[in-house]
Amino acid sequence: MQVGGSVDREAKRGPRHPSGRHRAWDTDPTTTRQQTQHRRDAQTTPKPNTSPTRAGSLGCGGVDQTFSSNRHGLLRAGDRVQLTDAKGRHSTVILKPDGVFHSHRGSFRHDQLIGQPEGTVVTTSGGTGYVVLRPLLADFVLSMPRGATVVYPKDAGQIVQMADIYPGARVIEAGTGSGALSISLLRAVGDQGKLVSVERREDFAVIAQANVVSWFGGPHPAWEPTVGELADVVQSHPDGSFDRMVLDMLAPWDNVTAAAAALTPGGVLMAYVATTTQMSRLVETIRADGGFTEPEAWESIVRGWHVEGLAVRPEHRMVGHTGFLVRGRRLAPGVQAPPRRRRPAPGGYDADGLDWSPEAFGSQPVSDRKLRRVRRGLEAAE
Ligand SMILES: C[S@@+](CC[C@H](N)C(=O)[O-])C[C@H]1O[C@@H](n2cnc3c(N)ncnc32)[C@H](O)[C@@H]1O
Repeated sequence: MQVGGSVDREAKRGPRHPSGRHRAWDTDPTTTRQQTQHRRDAQTTPKPNTSPTRAGSLGCGGVDQTFSSNRHGLLRAGDRVQLTDAKGRHSTVILKPDGVFHSHRGSFRHDQLIGQPEGTVVTTSGGTGYVVLRPLLADFVLSMPRGATVVYPKDAGQIVQMADIYPGARVIEAGTGSGALSISLLRAVGDQGKLVSVERREDFAVIAQANVVSWFGGPHPAWEPTVGELADVVQSHPDGSFDRMVLDMLAPWDNVTAAAAALTPGGVLMAYVATTTQMSRLVETIRADGGFTEPEAWESIVRGWHVEGLAVRPEHRMVGHTGFLVRGRRLAPGVQAPPRRRRPAPGGYDADGLDWSPEAFGSQPVSDRKLRRVRRGLEAAE
């Protein structure tokens, strides 16, 4: 059964702004300013080499730095900058020595910004001021080109922290999609770590690679983007090759056995799923596998606040839902987890998987005695 679904999510829905508003630039890429500017930028940005170097691999190795110095210091030609107007609207520009920014509010030359500090305000010929900053990763992810729906920054933060992605870690993720999560994982594993990103769709993998290269300013030395099926890629590595596995795909339960093979004892399996039915199936599959600790499941909800004078209240709109996270840790091979102390409710696992009794949902059955007491109370109140 296909439930919700990663590819479906991305095919049907445009990205949503974290404020929860479906802004024009989110939903209509053909007419909006942000996207138009992005396309313009894309035309002027050097294209990364996306041709496969060997079967199944997009080959990004051999580089010894991650260009982190690009992210601070005075603004330079080639820097990506985000312009924010008085209404908080963003435009993204890549600075070129002879570049000119045009909008219906006038223009300015890029060389007015080159050599200036971040946080500068530039004023167009029409008198409109823009604050100029290098975009944060969260800004970049929400405006970058995409094939697949991206993991939102709030969830990427949770994943990096709760999957305990550390410098030097050996991580495998699938699917790569548009590469949004890959960027966060790469930042966390650092130059000395390793991230194998597996994507079954070559067209998505190419977009992901362009995004990763675009963000870091070049290929990341720790990255091994790979086109293929996760289970096949896992098989091509010795058992226990990875410290962490992160899954963002339609049917992660199909890969629990692969996760058990890939992960070293103590390794973390983390999955991001869109629907409760996916979450349930994944948790039950991890439990049934027996090679992991008791799985944990949660979601994170972020609510923005409007803070102005005495008007201090939650924002009216918010992103109500993105996805759920599920985490388990790999046990040593051959080890059985101690039996759970909290037993599932009787009937919780009907053989057909279709026991819709209250007990199956963890409700305590109501005793006849309690019902009689309630009825007596009602009669007395009449
Ligand atoms: C929602 S997208 C991932 C988005 C990505 N995490 C990001 O932040 O940009 C899910 C991707 O998983 C890929 N996928 C699904 N099953 C897969 C599998 N078994 N092996 C490799 N890739 C898979 C799909 O092609 C799709 O691109």
